[in-house]
Amino acid sequence: MLLKEIKDIFHKELGAIYPKEEIDSFFYACIEHYLKLERFILAIRPGIALTKEEEQPLFEALSELKQEKPLQYILGTAHFMDMEIMVNENVLIPRPETEELVRWILDDTRSQMSDVRSQKSGVKNQHGDDETVHPSPLNILDIGTGSGCIAIALAKNLPDAKVFALDVSESALLVAQQNARSNGVDIGFLHQDILISQFDAKQVFDIVVSNPPYVRELEKKQIQKNVKDFEPETALFVPDEDPLLFYRAIIEFSEKHLSKSGKLYFEINQYLGEETKALFNTRNFSEIELRKDIFGNDRMLKAIKK
Ligand SMILES: C[S@@+](CC[C@H](N)C(=O)[O-])C[C@H]1O[C@@H](n2cnc3c(N)ncnc32)[C@H](O)[C@@H]1O
Repeated sequence: MLLKEIKDIFHKELGAIYPKEEIDSFFYACIEHYLKLERFILAIRPGIALTKEEEQPLFEALSELKQEKPLQYILGTAHFMDMEIMVNENVLIPRPETEELVRWILDDTRSQMSDVRSQKSGVKNQHGDDETVHPSPLNILDIGTGSGCIAIALAKNLPDAKVFALDVSESALLVAQQNARSNGVDIGFLHQDILISQFDAKQVFDIVVSNPPYVRELEKKQIQKNVKDFEPETALFVPDEDPLLFYRAIIEFSEKHLSKSGKLYFEINQYLGEETKALFNTRNFSEIELRKDIFGNDRMLKAIKK
């Protein structure tokens, strides 16, 4: 069959569910993934024909797209920052909002590191020579790591940091481990339930970050079928009567395990920005900052341990 004809079939079969541009982007992602064909191939070779064998994965993907399965799960891969991340039904598909959270951490950390360097440069040692600067490596913990996207992006961009990643789901940790390997970073993985943390009291981190489950059951109605039916429930949902349970537990954990002036970063439920911020009221933290994402929704929080 001609590739052009298959593209038309994608539009015909998916037209009732997705906008035209999205169908184009599904089609081109599929031919790139399965056939290593670039998206402009049809402009150069409009008459390109496929064998039955070549057609097969495209029609299989089409049938899954009709079930509204997310393309990332069909192809088994997603993009996060500049990385390729393997995904399956055991992990959440990384979101662009989470990239914003990672960028916030990277901006803060890099500017803090350059402040330390400029404060230290010019400092003379006891022999009157310039002191060499050896900032101690940062210890970072990502709670609820899922695919490992946050931890891996931080490890890649802060090569001197020691990054740990924790999740209650063993199958998510297997995906995260594979992603760490394929992205060439070394991460310490921990299989733990943060709600019953068993950390050694002496274990201290400079940065704790988390994108914990935060969607209330009552918000399920607004959620698209492709998220509700395919993404893991343990990654998404919290009870209506206690939607901030993970935030409370992680704040308590961070009070014990963050170093002085250590930072806690959260991705948050856009409808619960002020409520999440208020959890810090009686806690040993300062400079609580709520930030919006590119869509103007309350999406991130930062707090500094006193
Ligand atoms: C919203 S997902 C975030 C995944 C990933 N960090 C990201 O940003 O794409 C939340 C993650 O928290 C994990 N999780 C849920 N309950 C947990 C618990 N009690 N302790 C530790 N992790 C938990 C889930 O398995 C899931 O991977």
